[in-house]
Amino acid sequence: MSRILAIETSCDETAAAVIENGRVILSNVVATQIDLHRRFGGIFPEVASRQHVLSIYPVIQQALDEAGVTNVQTLDSIAVTHGPGLSGSLLVGVNAAKGLAFASDLPLHPINHLAGHIYSNWLDDSSPHLPALPNPVNGDSLLGEGTIARADGADESAVRVSEQDFPMLILIVSGGHTELILMHGHGRYERLGGTLDDAAGEAFDKVARLLDLGFPGGPIIQEAAQKGDPTRFALPKPLWQNPDHRYNFSFSGLKTAVLNLTRQLEKDGQSLNSPELKADIAASFQQVVTEVLVAKCADAATAYAVRRVCLCGGVSANAQLRKAAEERFQALNIPLTIPPIYLCTDNAAMIGAAAHFLDLPPEANGRGLSVDVYANLPL
Ligand code: KG4
Ligand code: ZN
Repeated sequence: MSRILAIETSCDETAAAVIENGRVILSNVVATQIDLHRRFGGIFPEVASRQHVLSIYPVIQQALDEAGVTNVQTLDSIAVTHGPGLSGSLLVGVNAAKGLAFASDLPLHPINHLAGHIYSNWLDDSSPHLPALPNPVNGDSLLGEGTIARADGADESAVRVSEQDFPMLILIVSGGHTELILMHGHGRYERLGGTLDDAAGEAFDKVARLLDLGFPGGPIIQEAAQKGDPTRFALPKPLWQNPDHRYNFSFSGLKTAVLNLTRQLEKDGQSLNSPELKADIAASFQQVVTEVLVAKCADAATAYAVRRVCLCGGVSANAQLRKAAEERFQALNIPLTIPPIYLCTDNAAMIGAAAHFLDLPPEANGRGLSVDVYANLPL
């Protein structure tokens, strides 16, 4: 039995969680800074680290309280994201974790944020403490969708991600990363490809800004696209069936294509203020991103005869991507897992899961005092 306190502050969410045996979420607290950054149209790094300083101890305290942990020393270890991410943000979580580990004489595990996203697929979604996170756009609950691993006994027919599923294919699609990875075992990753320029989430954010829709772009584009016609504008599918870049992605050109399209439409006398026009552009963009992601994933899953495909990262919260992936992998008869939406975007539960399954030796020197942050840490 292992109980781990996990801390995540790599970007704009201050998060802490207590995870049992890498699966059970005893608590999962996320303080989002979306409202703070909205006025800047993106994440303002210095504002993010200052807010982490204000939120970190209340968030950790709430995570401990909700998990019923009254004495930190009864935990087995502390895990913290040490990269990749914004250095100033990472430092707040790492320093808080170091202080707690030192004071309570617990081992400290530095965890790669991308490994965290991967292990979000190993968490159970039937834990008693599900956070009631509202959708930042329309206020709806973010809970309840998706293909999810459930706890033993929660649903007899439900499937859990396990060691039997290796080799599995992982698609990480977030604001900073788009990576296609063949996972051979715990911590054994073979990178098949990734984006050559912008990440998928970054493209959502940039296109939303371009259409003056606001921040964060992903949920807003999804919302706008619901009313739009995805076939109205034929946008280019980047690196589509390109033998030199079979498993690579590129989203910067697609963003430029959207920019050129808006300029052409304005030249033709169309108003970009029209919600219908914005909806059609958003839907056409989302359609291309989804098609490219799912097609490359399906190609790799078949070529490497994987036993399971796992999606993760903020963009895997996208409803159209989830639906398209579910349909494609069902047709291919390859099991697919996508975390519930609240575990797709940044959280600390996934960091606790990664720490459990990776079973890392704790930093020997001063029980973690030598842990540092790395903005560009590779997986
Ligand atoms: O994983 P994440 O929370 O943070 C990073 O590690 O980057 O991902 C954030 C990204 C943002 O770019 C956001 O726009 C995108 O995930 N995102 C979405 C959706 N929800 C969040 N993209 C598309 N559709 C969504 N529903
Ligand atoms: Zn992330």
